Amino acid sequence: MEKRILKDENDRVDGIFKVTGKAKYFAEYALPGLTYGVLVTSTITKGKITTLNTKAAEKAPGVMAVLSHLNKPSAPGYEQDGGSPLKIFYTDKIFYNGQPIAMVVANTFERATYAASLVEATYTKEQFNTDFDKAVADAKAKKLQGQPDYKRGVEDAYKTAEVKIEEKYHLPIETHNPMELHGMIADWRPNNQLTVYAKTQGVKATQGTIANVFKIPNENIRVNSEFVGGGFGMALRTWPVEIATIMASKYLGKPVKLMLTRMQMFTMVGNRPAAIQTIGLGAKKDGTLTGITHLAFGETSVYENFTEGVVNMAKFMYQCDNVNTQYTVVPVDLGVPIWMRGPGEATGAFALESAIDEMAHALDMDPLEFRIKNDPERDQQRNLPFSDKNIKEAYRIGAQKIGWNERKNKPGSLIEGQWKTGYGVSIGVFNANRGRASVKGILKADGSLVLQSATSDIGPGTGTGMTLIASKLMNIPADRITFELGDSSLPPAPSQGGSATLSTVGSAVNDVCVALKSTIAELAANANMDATSNFVEVLKKNNLPSVEMTKQSQAGKEREAYSMYSFSIHFVKVKVHGLTGVVKVDKIVSVGDSGTIISPKTARSQMVGGAVGGVGMALTEESVIDHRYGRYINNNFADYHVPVNADIPEIEVHFINKPDPYINPMGAKGMGEIALIGFSAAVANAVFNATGKRIRNLPITPDKILAST
Ligand code: MOS
Repeated sequence: MEKRILKDENDRVDGIFKVTGKAKYFAEYALPGLTYGVLVTSTITKGKITTLNTKAAEKAPGVMAVLSHLNKPSAPGYEQDGGSPLKIFYTDKIFYNGQPIAMVVANTFERATYAASLVEATYTKEQFNTDFDKAVADAKAKKLQGQPDYKRGVEDAYKTAEVKIEEKYHLPIETHNPMELHGMIADWRPNNQLTVYAKTQGVKATQGTIANVFKIPNENIRVNSEFVGGGFGMALRTWPVEIATIMASKYLGKPVKLMLTRMQMFTMVGNRPAAIQTIGLGAKKDGTLTGITHLAFGETSVYENFTEGVVNMAKFMYQCDNVNTQYTVVPVDLGVPIWMRGPGEATGAFALESAIDEMAHALDMDPLEFRIKNDPERDQQRNLPFSDKNIKEAYRIGAQKIGWNERKNKPGSLIEGQWKTGYGVSIGVFNANRGRASVKGILKADGSLVLQSATSDIGPGTGTGMTLIASKLMNIPADRITFELGDSSLPPAPSQGGSATLSTVGSAVNDVCVALKSTIAELAANANMDATSNFVEVLKKNNLPSVEMTKQSQAGKEREAYSMYSFSIHFVKVKVHGLTGVVKVDKIVSVGDSGTIISPKTARSQMVGGAVGGVGMALTEESVIDHRYGRYINNNFADYHVPVNADIPEIEVHFINKPDPYINPMGAKGMGEIALIGFSAAVANAVFNATGKRIRNLPITPDKILAST
């Protein structure tokens, strides 16, 4: 493979590779003797397999094996009792419709597909429920604590406030739908040596999970995932179907490829869980918030639990002495959910940021003014100062760019022909994480620098960001720097999730560059050279082809002294058609307050991508289930509507671009999550401002606008 090269900071190291098809995704590795797995899935939602007839499939042309609970292909970790992951092919129980019950492996994909159609199962069925609203309403349904209850000051203080609102917000199941389908190629060799080509947000995490299930040492497992075609969180764990692929390769002693269909992407690799939330807000007539109550129900599965940060934001985002939150998860008979961009915070922010707008309306205040009035000086939840927060400045920039002064506080008063115009605003916030990572740096006498770390790049531009950090520090042109990632044999790094990669891996890049520079300075001194000598001359003078070192980097005590968050402010202008209820997003301005901007191009792309995802969340995305059968009915791109070009106006992105003094050596905080968090509320708030109709049930489709009063 050619090297990834960055020409200038407005370039991407992998841009050319991606747009010319040179970037190789897991499914494109054509290993010699590759075989193909195709899944057979349950046609019932809950119960037990009574018979599974695989004979016809086994006899079909080209078929090498049919794996199922009948032959339990060896996975020693699955033979132990306990543990929550669904143990694929080690159970005859059915937990959701579309659960994999067998895998046919054949010498071609077409033969495997045909043979899979010959597998017949019979079941004993049990009663099931896939309707989350029904589960929440059902007093007898299981309800589990998703997070400890939180209380500061008086509980439910809003109830006795001068002005109060109490509203309920619904979020449907959303499905990640990255372009690249999920799957794996597994190549199990004698002596328990395993190579996999995976779609993963964490090559080390995948390696660890595999080691655990198959009881082989980590060193025996090589995970490759150089390019990932979108993850949005669904590739943050190793799913049972990946384990099944490895089982098949181990069983056959041949490389096996499994790639899910788009329909299977809806059932077996997670989703954003549905949620029902109640927000109560209380305020004085002058607009001072006096009470916040946030009660949330989130969807989970019956066979594994999933929780996320739905109620986090309510605890610190506004100055308020009385706050209480509760988060409960309720199992339904569906596949287990997983984080989806902005995870629980995006769910929570839809409710909280809608409610804040509703309160401003109840007070007859400009929502921007109301927000500024209640902007916190300190983090009241943790009783710490913020490491850095420039929200008021972000409000000011965004308001000016969107044309907030055109907005009328009275809803429904800006009308142009058949279109009603409205403006909305919201905040996004996410923990500014920093984990532990190692980076190896190899500085060569030919003037180049190679950096290596087992991190991933699912699209945000990690390779580009890391190259720019090193280029600036080392004063080496970006086109002489290569950043290698996506390989578990490289120095360890955490999974790419929670907006932490730039902060975590970038700090290790920083540290290894600082160390390389001081080594070069020592070598220069030893050779009686000027301290400012170029490293190429220094290496040559010392007869060294290269110097290399590995540095591990992690946060220190500063994380105990400061509350660290990234913030975003989203401004949206919408036009709503009076007769049809169609919502057109007319303009988007997102302002990021996330410390230093390392890579302007990829930072902007993060915010643009988040806004597009936010438009989908607000207006179109919803995974619909026919609860009579427990099956998804819009499990394809024709019926599950992600925004297309025609749905997206020009998006303006601005950054505060001031270093956070405490987060890390670069002063840079993540922005993957804040790009989306809160966005859907800005749209809902704009729709309200345009029409006077408050939609609390996403997505905001025309029928709801026409029906609501
Ligand atoms: Mo993300 S939900 O941190 O991949």
